[in-house]
Amino acid sequence: MRHQIVIIGGGPSGLLLAQLLLKQGIDAVVLERQTRAHVLGRIRAGVLEMGFVDQMREAGVADRMEREGLLHDGTILSYNDREVRIDFRKHAGRPVTIYGQTEVTRDLYEARDATGGTTYFEVADVTLHGMEGDTPYVTFRHDGQDKRIDCDFIAGCDGFHGVSRKSIPDSVRKDYERVYPFGWLGVLSETPPVNNELIYASSDRGFALCSMRNMNLSRYYVQCSAEDRVENWSDARFWEELRRRIPPDAAERIVTGPSIEKSIAPLRSFVTEPMRFGRLFLCGDAAHIVPPTGAKGLNSAASDVYYLFQGLKAFYADGETDGLDSYSQKALDRVWKVERFSWWMTSLLHRFPDQSAFDQKMQEAEIAFLSESEAAQEALARNYVGLPY
Ligand code: APR
Ligand code: PHB
Repeated sequence: MRHQIVIIGGGPSGLLLAQLLLKQGIDAVVLERQTRAHVLGRIRAGVLEMGFVDQMREAGVADRMEREGLLHDGTILSYNDREVRIDFRKHAGRPVTIYGQTEVTRDLYEARDATGGTTYFEVADVTLHGMEGDTPYVTFRHDGQDKRIDCDFIAGCDGFHGVSRKSIPDSVRKDYERVYPFGWLGVLSETPPVNNELIYASSDRGFALCSMRNMNLSRYYVQCSAEDRVENWSDARFWEELRRRIPPDAAERIVTGPSIEKSIAPLRSFVTEPMRFGRLFLCGDAAHIVPPTGAKGLNSAASDVYYLFQGLKAFYADGETDGLDSYSQKALDRVWKVERFSWWMTSLLHRFPDQSAFDQKMQEAEIAFLSESEAAQEALARNYVGLPY
C-alpha cells in the first residue's frame, strides 16, 4: 500500500494533523494501537489556547467546541491566604476555551468518519523503516496479517510510550527529564463547578486545582505523594482534603458528589531532541511531556502540528523544504518556553517533600510579587493563553 503520509497514533495530535492534511488533499493514513473506544475513554485536561482553537477551525472541526466550550477571561491563584486573579483579557487580549480533550478527540474522529481517510485500529508491531532515505515505509500487524505502507513521510504522534521516538538512534537523540516527587489525584464529578474560573490553590497541605468540563461536570485535583494509590482515597477523604486546600469561600460553597472517575497522574517534564530524523517527524507527547500545572500538554502538541502541517503543505504545494528543514528547531523553540512555564507553575504552587523554610519564603515572595506586579501578571497571562506560533 502507498500513502503520502503515515501518521502513527490516533490521539489528538495525530487526528488534528490528519484532518488538516486531508483538507489540503494530502492523503494520510492513521495507525492506532488501541480501539477507538479506548482512546476516547481517556480522561485528560481541557484548557485550549486560541492557537489550538484556530487550528480546529481550519480543520473544520470547531462547531461543537464553539457551541459547548466555555470562554474564560481569567484564572485564580491562591497561596495560603493570599489570592490573585490573572486577567487574560486585560493582559493578553484573549480568553482560553474550556472544552475537554476527550470531546476534542471525539469531534476529530467524527470529522474523519464524515470526510473519509483510512484509520487502522488495534495495530501491533508497528515498525518504522528507511527514515534516512527517500522511501520510508512502515510495517505492522492488523487483523492477524502483516502489512506494509510505503510513504513520503512518517509523523510520530504515538505519545510518550510510542515506538516513533525510540526509532531515532540514541546516538542522534538527547533526552531531558525532570520527574517531580508528587502526583495529581484527579476526580470527575457531575456537580456544578465551585467557581466560574479555574482556581489553582497552594496550601501548607499541598496543591489543589478546581476545574470543569461544563456547568454540570467538574474536575478537581489534589497533590498526592508519587507512591500514593487511588484505593487510599475515598470520595469523602478527597472532598475533605480539597476543602482544606482551597480558599475558604470556595470551600464553603463547593458542591460535592460521587466521583465518576478517579485516577492519579505522575508529574514529569520531558523533551527529546531533535524532533526530526530524516523522513520521521515527532509531534506531541511522542517528543515532550509537561506537568499539567500549566495546562500545556494538548496545546504544545497543537503547535507541533501547526509547524509540521505548514511544512508538509509547502512541500506538496511546490516542493519547498524550508518548513520541514526548520520544523525541529521551530517546534523545540516553543516547546522549551512551554516547558519552562509549566515547570515554573509547578515549582511555585506545589509543596516539595524536601522543601526548606527558605524555599517556602521564595514561593511566598514570588506570589507577593505576582499579586503586586502588572508585568508579572502579564507574563503569566501571555504564557497561559498561549505564546504565538
Ligand atoms: N502504534 C500505534 N499507535 C500507538 C503506538 C504504536 N506503537 N503507541 C501509542 N500509540 C497511540 C496511543 O494508543 C495513543 O492513542 O498513539 C496515541 C498517542 O496519543 P496521546 O498519548 O494522546 O498523544 P498526543 O496525540 O500527542 O496528545 C497529547 O495527550 O497525554 C495528553 O497531555 C497530553 O494533552 C496531551 C495530549
Ligand atoms: C483539567 O481541567 O483537567 C485541567 C485544567 C488545567 C490544568 C490541568 C488540568 O492546568
